[in-house]
Amino acid sequence: MCGIVGYIGTEDAKEILLKGLEKLEYRGYDSAGIAVATEEGVHVFKEKGRIATLREVVDQGVKSTVGIGHTRWATHGEPSKVNAHPHQSESSRFTIVHNGVIENYEQLKRDYLQAVTLQSDTDTEVVVQLVERFVHEGQSVEAAFRHTLSLLKGSYAIALLDKKDTDTIYVGKNKSPLLVGVQDGVNVVASDAMAMLQVTDQFLEIMDEEIVIVTKDDVTIKTLDGTAVSREPYTAELDASDIEKGTYPHFMLKEIDEQPFVIRNIIQKYQNEDGSVRLDEDIRQAVMEADRIYIIAAGTSYHAGLVGKQLIENFAKQPVEVHIASEFLYNMPLLSKRPLFIFISQSGETADSRGVLVEVKKLGYKALTITNVPGSTLSREADFTLHTHAGPEIAVASTKAYTAQMAVLTLLAADTAKAKGIDLGFDPIQELSIVANAMETLCNQKETLEKIARDYLAVTRNCFFIGRATDYFVCLEGALKLKEISYIQAEGFAGGELKHGTIALIEEGTPIVALATQEHVNLSIRGNVKEVAARGAFPCIISIEGLNEEDDTFVLPKVHSHLTPLVSVIPLQLIAYYAALHRGCDVDKPRNLAKSVTVE
Ligand code: F6R
Repeated sequence: MCGIVGYIGTEDAKEILLKGLEKLEYRGYDSAGIAVATEEGVHVFKEKGRIATLREVVDQGVKSTVGIGHTRWATHGEPSKVNAHPHQSESSRFTIVHNGVIENYEQLKRDYLQAVTLQSDTDTEVVVQLVERFVHEGQSVEAAFRHTLSLLKGSYAIALLDKKDTDTIYVGKNKSPLLVGVQDGVNVVASDAMAMLQVTDQFLEIMDEEIVIVTKDDVTIKTLDGTAVSREPYTAELDASDIEKGTYPHFMLKEIDEQPFVIRNIIQKYQNEDGSVRLDEDIRQAVMEADRIYIIAAGTSYHAGLVGKQLIENFAKQPVEVHIASEFLYNMPLLSKRPLFIFISQSGETADSRGVLVEVKKLGYKALTITNVPGSTLSREADFTLHTHAGPEIAVASTKAYTAQMAVLTLLAADTAKAKGIDLGFDPIQELSIVANAMETLCNQKETLEKIARDYLAVTRNCFFIGRATDYFVCLEGALKLKEISYIQAEGFAGGELKHGTIALIEEGTPIVALATQEHVNLSIRGNVKEVAARGAFPCIISIEGLNEEDDTFVLPKVHSHLTPLVSVIPLQLIAYYAALHRGCDVDKPRNLAKSVTVE
């Protein structure tokens, strides 16, 4: 979702801001802009569409060493040049970029800005107009900025330029991600460290309801009441090459291919020298003390949570509920006496999950976050974090983060089982190594999977994925992958559920992808395939060695029966990838979607 960058130093700010915005493209956006300050004033360049379009309108003749930039994912007001950020105050003294949602912007307009003609439909413009109003009333810029932020309800990461003081960027944050990067004689602002790795790997975390006054040589953090805060920077352990595509045509394909490596990396990070699973004692203790685990997540991470429930219940005999983050607070279940909340989130920034975490902490319960971004909001605000070590995931469609989440959940479940004295009868680390090898085999079968995508999905308008038991959860994920990047209407169903209504949608040639990796439901899912085939469906059966039959379309290498989701999802990811490619879709940046969903 929206991303912001800022730069103040000695180099050409335009290029650094544009490069920074390119690094934020993966978050999803529909317009972009930058503002750079010179002695003559602040120059704003913005356009609807891609950064490449913005580049074309940026006047290379404007020389500046300070500026702010923004990618916008429309919430208030359609995607357009007018609604794109930066926005300026009425006199154009102040220029702002903002990520988040100001929930009370209508109220603020009525209370403070009746006399101002707003130029855009955005909630953001209200903020910059308020700063100008308070400055006109005699407040210093810093005081006006703090006053404005104290009136805002909702989420924001904001950067503000003042044309009368072009040596300063004012920054503020609440609920939306924001970092300030520091370096000798140059400082930067970014929603995400990746955007400014080009300048520094030293970053300061900014907490909610703090502002930062950023100059070339100094960074001052204050609370909204003006109290100074001191904080040491940390080193962002990111490899700049991780965020390049290299020779791959798309990040999604690169990330699919990285999965065997990610699983081996997880094994390495969570393995003791004697080969046993290594987890923090505190985490083990928290899981053991819980009488019920509540997994909270969204989208693909929710699908990993469904598999996690099976793993924890089967291995550790601990009851687990899985909830969609955006619904949890409205449909709150009766909680057990000693709940433990597990938040699963690739980005660690999903606003829906964070909303639940905030409530859970208010109620005094313990929370563990499983995330790919350890310094993220969900990681910082939970009691414990398990890192998925998948490396930056740039493609909007999540692939390696999903399998990494399931691998970490496998280790958590196995570790809990061991702590409870339950003998699993197998070595989880050994089984994950087998999974990594199987993933490698599957990643080498791209031609076959491309052909399947062509045969089944080249012209269809819809597709159903069916499976039973754990396969059903992977079907939900397979359908999500396909629909989000190829725009084919795809739905995952429990094999037995189709006949209770959805079978009415089956027509001559409707593709049905069926997963058959679970022995105890193998016969019944094959029965379900026959039901739909008898009604004209075009079945694509993906089975596993040992359960395969002659006419199966694709056969997976054998892995432990509880770990099949980690391998059965790979052909589904690749089929979705090739289907999207054949249809000419923008695989890495599907329409309407954002990588990091920072609004509720
Ligand atoms: C789908 C996808 C989304 C995310 C969801 C949660 O490919 O990526 O469904 O899984 O938006 O995001 P995180 O995991 O960052 O909380």
